[in-house]
Amino acid sequence: MDDNGNLAEDHSALWNGVAGHQWVETQALLDRIFSPLEDLLVETLPAGRGESLLDIGCGTGSTVLAAAGRLGPAGRATGIDISRPMIDAARQRAEKARIAADFICADAQRYRFEPEAYDRIQSRFGVMFFDGAVEAFSNINLASTPGAPMRLLAWRSPAENPFMTAAAEAAAPLLPELPELQPDAPGQFALADAGRTRNMLAAARWQDIDIRPVDTPCRFDAAELSTYLARLGPVGRILPGIEPGRREDVLAAIRPAFDRYVSGGEVRFTAACWLIEARAEGKRA
Ligand SMILES: C[S@@+](CC[C@H](N)C(=O)[O-])C[C@H]1O[C@@H](n2cnc3c(N)ncnc32)[C@H](O)[C@@H]1O
Repeated sequence: MDDNGNLAEDHSALWNGVAGHQWVETQALLDRIFSPLEDLLVETLPAGRGESLLDIGCGTGSTVLAAAGRLGPAGRATGIDISRPMIDAARQRAEKARIAADFICADAQRYRFEPEAYDRIQSRFGVMFFDGAVEAFSNINLASTPGAPMRLLAWRSPAENPFMTAAAEAAAPLLPELPELQPDAPGQFALADAGRTRNMLAAARWQDIDIRPVDTPCRFDAAELSTYLARLGPVGRILPGIEPGRREDVLAAIRPAFDRYVSGGEVRFTAACWLIEARAEGKRA
């Protein structure tokens, strides 16, 4: 049940199930891997202006807390996410860190936001999962003050992100149950086509749309690679559900595909993303 009183939709099952729990369990690792992208997302936030910010698909809250820190005590950061386990983890982190932030557990595509409540919108990888992207971005537009800036990070194509697809490619012969990548379908690469994203944002009445490629080096400790492979991505989601012997076979098959990313005790890869910026429509009637 979300904060609107709605039962979770089908498309949210993944984030309320295995994917959500795996993100919560590996939160510290994921935040380390994607911290350069967090910096990129929040670096333009102004301090001390008392602005309110909404973070879409905020997950376990790292970018919400970073935004709250930059906006300062006069500002207010709010995160919305469809996943109950991830929002619960985000609330606990904020409490533990004694950072004032608000969290909403709901589908950002359909949630009835207070109109014109947010001066800024941001998201790191939280806007690729809508089953109706124009409806979702229209809803977010209505929640924004006229002219509010929006700053989003989304993945470019699978071909430009071989680190993200290496596990599934290597595991495919052993895991026929792996879902095939469908171009443009809700999922990690749904906004890979910048022209399509631009059209969807324009249809949702966003203005001054600017979509730029950013290539960000990411790294993590090589000792954490086995956790990464066993718990994350499309392969990590399937592994807990298969018999242990087969699981070991899959892990043994995919590990060599990552040799080229390991050096000096670290795993290093480039995140090929879009930095998507736009402004909410101007004065409304
Ligand atoms: C790849 S994770 C990114 C999490 C977080 N932004 C981060 O960078 O750590 C995608 C997030 O989007 C959330 N999500 C997916 N569909 C959503 C929707 N319709 N409304 C709100 N959140 C959604 C998921 O639950 C998940 O937390």
